[in-house]
Amino acid sequence: MTTMNRRNFIATLGIAGSAALLAGCSNDTAEQEPAADDAAESTDEASYTLVKEGVLTNVAELGFSPFEYIDDEGTTVGFDVDLSNAIAEKMGLTCEWLPNQAFDTLVPTIQQGGKADICIAGMTITDERLESVDFSDPYLNSNQALIVAASSDATTESLNAAEVQIACQTGTTGDEWIQENLPNATRVPLADVTAGMMGVSTGSYQAMVIDLPVAQNMLAQSFSDLKVLEEIPTGEQYGIAVSKDNPELLAAVNDALAQIEEDGTMDEIKQKWFGTTEI
Ligand code: ARG
Repeated sequence: MTTMNRRNFIATLGIAGSAALLAGCSNDTAEQEPAADDAAESTDEASYTLVKEGVLTNVAELGFSPFEYIDDEGTTVGFDVDLSNAIAEKMGLTCEWLPNQAFDTLVPTIQQGGKADICIAGMTITDERLESVDFSDPYLNSNQALIVAASSDATTESLNAAEVQIACQTGTTGDEWIQENLPNATRVPLADVTAGMMGVSTGSYQAMVIDLPVAQNMLAQSFSDLKVLEEIPTGEQYGIAVSKDNPELLAAVNDALAQIEEDGTMDEIKQKWFGTTEI
């Protein structure tokens, strides 16, 4: 049993216990005070549907460190994972992650329904995606980064040429940025961020465009031979995607998010993954 499962299990016991107690001592009271426990309140109010009872099922592309990635032990970890666990806990649920899925399949998966309840994947809220899914309130700000080899003397302008290959993750906002801002370059959309960075490292590609926090993390962890040539102030905001058919779930997620912002949990998670709450 994971820590979270254990906690929920105990919480569930607590609810059952106090309900039994109330029922036992005041048969004549039709309207009972709601239990003070968060989990009990949201369980009573829950009117949303879940793919699996008692579980918040997540889907993501799991190669986006430090937001979601698979660690050496094969466990899915990261900022978004901690956030999703915290949201689930506020809702009195446990959290599960589906196996890795390509980034450009995530919005369609949520839109179709039946597989995952939410997608929390460092995903930027965009007008185009909002046509297919709903998004929670924003939970983090982000920008893009243009990455090149540390030894490269390229400029952003010099990269806008047909013989220049620029990697990105397929269907991301970085992918879109290349198409709009370096239209002459040869764009190389890839399923995997690490493959793109490796390619820049080995010289197969001259650059890569990816979310700045991920670039900074991966450069610090594994790619000291790469540098951020330009920070691109796209002003993106990450949100949690939920099916348009599940507005009550969206409301519950937003409610949990607000509690997490308020009670300091969000700052704790930011501190853990970024060493600062200023992100
Ligand atoms: N923020 C960017 C976007 O929404 C990239 C997200 C990539 N996320 C991932 N888990 N691979 O398009």
